[in-house]
Order: sequence, then C-alpha cells, then structure tokens
Amino acid sequence: MAAHGLANNLTEYGDKEFALYLRRSFAKAMGFSNEALDKPIVGILNTYSELNNCHRHFPQLVDAIKRGVWQAGGLPLEFPTISLGEVFLSPTSMFYRNLMALDAEAMIRAQPLDAVVLTGGCDKTLPALLMGAASAGVPAIAVAAGPMLTSQFEGERLGACTDCRRFWARFRRNEIDQETIQVVEGQLAPTPGTCSVMGTASTMACLVETLGMMLPGGASIPAVYADRMRCAEESGKLAVQLIQSQLTPAQIMTRPAFENALRVLQAIGGSTNAVIHLTALAGRLGIRLELDQLDQLAASTPVLVDLKPTGVGYMEDFHRSGGLRVVLQELKPLLHLDVRTVTGQTLGQLLDTPYTFPSWQQVIRPATAPLQAEGALIVLRGNLAPDGALLKRSAATPALLHKSGRAVVFNSLADLAARIDHPDLDVTPDDFLVLQNAGPLGGPGMPEAGYLPIPKKLATAGVTDMVRISDARMSGTAFGTVVLHVAPEAAVGGPLGLVRTGDRIELDVDARRLTLQVPEEELAARRAAQPLPPPLATYGYAALYQRHCEQANLGADFDFLHPPEIR
Ligand code: FES
Repeated sequence: MAAHGLANNLTEYGDKEFALYLRRSFAKAMGFSNEALDKPIVGILNTYSELNNCHRHFPQLVDAIKRGVWQAGGLPLEFPTISLGEVFLSPTSMFYRNLMALDAEAMIRAQPLDAVVLTGGCDKTLPALLMGAASAGVPAIAVAAGPMLTSQFEGERLGACTDCRRFWARFRRNEIDQETIQVVEGQLAPTPGTCSVMGTASTMACLVETLGMMLPGGASIPAVYADRMRCAEESGKLAVQLIQSQLTPAQIMTRPAFENALRVLQAIGGSTNAVIHLTALAGRLGIRLELDQLDQLAASTPVLVDLKPTGVGYMEDFHRSGGLRVVLQELKPLLHLDVRTVTGQTLGQLLDTPYTFPSWQQVIRPATAPLQAEGALIVLRGNLAPDGALLKRSAATPALLHKSGRAVVFNSLADLAARIDHPDLDVTPDDFLVLQNAGPLGGPGMPEAGYLPIPKKLATAGVTDMVRISDARMSGTAFGTVVLHVAPEAAVGGPLGLVRTGDRIELDVDARRLTLQVPEEELAARRAAQPLPPPLATYGYAALYQRHCEQANLGADFDFLHPPEIR
C-alpha cells in the first residue's frame, strides 16, 4: 500500500524509518498528538498576502477549510505559496503565473500531502494553482476568493474594475476633476474579494467550477458572505473524501470537461485571458486546445450573462440570480454531462435536480431568449495573425467590426506612453491603433496593455472606441474593439512587427480575417531590414522565462511543463 500522511515523500537520509521518526518528532514540536499525526494530510495552499487585497479574508477562509478537514477525519496543514496581487506586480502578474505554478507543483510534490485545497482568486492565482496541481497529480479541490461587493458614488453603483476604467476615461476627457477621481478611487474596491464584474478572476472561478474542480456554486458567492465560509468548510470535507476516492485532477479535467469550459466561457461573455489559461492548463494534462475550436463553439453557444464589462450587472447580482448553476442548466443540451467532478458525481448528476428558470431576474437570460445568439469570443486569422488573434465581439462597437483603417503604430509600451497623448500625434477616429512588442516575450509577460487608451485629443472630442490591435492582453474588466494575443508576437518576428504607420489594415469579423494590406515583397524587405533582437537575459527568473515561454496561442506556459507530444 502506498505511503500516506507523514510517511509520504520522506526526506532522503538513506534510512526510511529514521526519516519518519525524525519527521514525527518535529511534527510533535508543533503540538500535534499521535492521533492527529496518524490522519491523512490535506495541504492547504494559502495565497494570503498583504500585497494581494483580493485575498484579504484568506485567514478566515483557511480556518473554515480546516474545520471541514478536521470534521471529515483529516489533518489540515496550511502552507504559503507565491501570491499574485494583480495590480501590485511589475511588469505584469502574467509574467509570474508560471513561477507560481512551478512553486505550487514543487511544494505539492515535495511535501507529505494526500490531497490539497487550492485557495486562489485574483486573476492568475487559480490558473497557476490548477496548473501546478494538474502536473503534481495529487487529488485537489479549488476554493475561490469570491467577488467583492459593489459600492456607490453619488447614487451610481461602483465596482472594480470596469468602473475604474470608465471613470478614468471620464477624467481623461476632463468630465470630472481631480477631487472627484480621488473620491471614486476610495470607493472602487470596498471589500475583500476579486473584481466585482465578469473579469478574469470571476471568469476563471466559473470555469474552474465548470471543469468540476470546485464545489457547485463556489464560483460566485461574494467574499464577505457567510456562505463563502460554509463553502470553504464543505470543500475541506470533500478534500478528505478525495483521498478515499483517489480522484485526480487528470480524471476530472478531461478534454470534454475543457470543451464544456470553453462553451461556458462563450456563454458568460468571459475574459479573453481565460483562453490562455485554459490552453495552458489543458496542456499540462497533454490536451491541446485549438483556437479554432473556441471559434466553432461560438457559432452554437448563446451569450446568456449580462454583466459588466459588456453588460450591466455585477457578480453579486449573478450570484443572487442563481449563478453558474443557471447557466449550466440553460446550456445543458450543449454540454458533456458524463464528466466527473470533485463531488464524486458527474456534471449530469449534479444538474439532474428540479429546475425552473429564475425569470424574476435580468442578468442571466434563458437559452430561448439569449443576450446574443452567438458566443462572445471570436478568433481572427490572416497575414497579420497567422497563428490567430482574439476579439471579444460582445465588448466591441458593432460599427467597427467590418472596417479598414490606416495603422498608427507604437513599437513598444514606452513609445505608446510617450506619444499617445501628444497633441501632434497624427491620428483620426478611423485609424487603427497598433501596439508592437507587448506579447509573452516582448512585454514581457503580455501586459494588459491591449486596451490602448484613446488618444487624449480624440477622447476629449468624444471618441470612446477605436480599433486597437496588439500582441498584448486586455484586462477582463475592459471593453472596446480590441484585437488581442496576435500570434506570433512581434518580438519573435511575427508580422505584427512589420506594420508601419500609414499601412492599411482590414478587419472583417464575419470572415474572421485580419489582413495587412501590404504586398508580400514589401513585407519581405521589411523583414530583412529588421534589427536583431536584444540578447536574452542571463540572470534569474527572467532568463528562465525568456528561454522557455511559449506563444499566446499555446497558453504562454513553459515548454518543458507539458508532455512533449503536444509541443
Ligand atoms: Fe484581484 Fe481584480 S485585482 S481580481
């Protein structure tokens, strides 16, 4: 029988009995009895950090998980991991997602853990923890932070962080003054929890629940609700049951489960970032997710959820309206129902309960009367994006979806910052703003800079949207006609790096085309004249990142962290 509890993963001294004796004696130094130390161990990966406001309540959340583990007969042992607070990291949290995944995987593999509870929420944390747990192969269950509540400003509802951008845009247009923006700044994030819209954090929580790695209903309970603690306690209990069933992440997160997640992503109008995270997570399990599959699902998946950034509601409204369960019930005929979940039941069994559509609410629509007939995210290809690019159609201005325009190019983030608001910038509302060298390697870390600001002189004249194209990402809380994740990126020689100000670009969403209207001979000449890329970093994590990070369409994971057959 395989070792369990403290006998798991013994330290190597060349004498196993000595190693166990030493470990037990040191564990007793922490005050545990023999009875406690004989129990199976549930490791709780605690991502609390004073540099992560979204996880401010995690001490309480972890206490609740521990209660559940004790009740079910396990020994809960929490340990810290890297935490990624979205707005506290430079150059961007995405640069560190793979580092966090490495940390999680290594510590799950190294320590004596029979199962793990993954506590995460802020954008990259759940993807990183799931990636690590998938690779480690130990039974695992995720507990999300839950969304923040909203607040108010002069009678208007405020929530992070779509309203952060909306008010900042008003400030840039001189519609509100410095004093007002400071008052708003104090009201945007009023409680612990993740951003209160269908941004990346909420999207990923919904997708992790869809994948079967979270307790049903666990994605949307607000962070400060008592139900959030009860959900954590129940998850602790389930972690102990997972030890008995030996149900691993690979048995739950199968290809059909990922197809369900892609479909739900379309239906909830979720964040574009989720495509990268799902691709990376699937890759850990040897499953290649193709962008074209996402696009095909768009054609048969209605958009059902009307939340910001594209709609009107907030996550607390979504939760009160029934949350993900309603979405899954409405999508039921389109889902794979035989996939397993951490509960031990299949998705079909979980949904096989009495259900009536909650017609009293507005934020979730029935499949018979959707918000939009087709999915929110589409994939573009063409000579400007041979390996694909993403556009969130539901967040775009319809009049801009079929258009050709003159490129106004910024060759780096520094160039963008230096020139975008310059009064002499030659730009009109019909131009396409193009940002180069902001991809996985060029950024580095794909900063959320794809939502290029409208040049100030246009913004103050009332322009609110333009076509923007880049190899960067966009915050899940942002909106606009924004083409993202162009692959291959400019920094590795992708055609995006060959665009020059004055070129014509055509965007044709119906045909899924993104075309740089420049003759191939001219592009070849520009390619030949490109300067050599800067030398790779030789120090620390940046050196590892630059040598191994893959392109956006492959999930931007490290190439040595998924099975070779899908490389
Ligand atoms: Fe943490 Fe938005 S800043 S989820």
